Amino acid sequence: MHRLGILLSGRGSNFEAIADHIQAGKLAAEIAIVISNKPDAPGIEAARRRGLNAVIIPSKLREREAHDNEVVAALKKAKVDLVCLAGYMRLLSAKFVQAFPHRILNIHPSLLPAFPGLDAQKQALEYGVKVTGCTVHFVDEHLDHGPIILQTTVPVLDGDSVESLSARILKEEHLAYSEAIRRVLSGEYVVDGRRVIKK
Ligand code: GRF
Repeated sequence: MHRLGILLSGRGSNFEAIADHIQAGKLAAEIAIVISNKPDAPGIEAARRRGLNAVIIPSKLREREAHDNEVVAALKKAKVDLVCLAGYMRLLSAKFVQAFPHRILNIHPSLLPAFPGLDAQKQALEYGVKVTGCTVHFVDEHLDHGPIILQTTVPVLDGDSVESLSARILKEEHLAYSEAIRRVLSGEYVVDGRRVIKK
């Protein structure tokens, strides 16, 4: 069984959706470890309630490299095949990325390369785009940047607020992340420059 390592900093709804898909037999994987850099992340509480291996590795006041080394060591110890960032609010050091080449995934609530960084849904609404969505991509050293595995679109409606748009995107995120994990675990793709294409 493929082993997933989940990294989160907050709410953890994407993590819970992945865990639910696994429980429902829709995703053939197991969650080997859930790591939070924030001691009070609701997501880590949820992981505990599910009886998963839940670990807090605080990042506050620590050098990125030292913190990352500790996270990488925990992931290696848990023998993870894939690392899934699920609302993990930290940029990874080059050493971290190189420890899991094309084995780290992230989800972002916009159609990258549009609206990287914080408040992507607000950025989209304010820009006036008519379509937005979510992106699951491989992680590199740059923010919201690596090769794209999958994107899903949602319409932006005239009456939308940041909250209503975010909720519409989040629903898609919860499906897209498991689908992207399935694709990567299948191994039936090649990464050709920035393009992730079927073998
Ligand atoms: C999601 O919108 C995700 O795309 C972004 O951060 C948010 C995390 O939400 N990277 P949650 O913690 O998974 O509920």
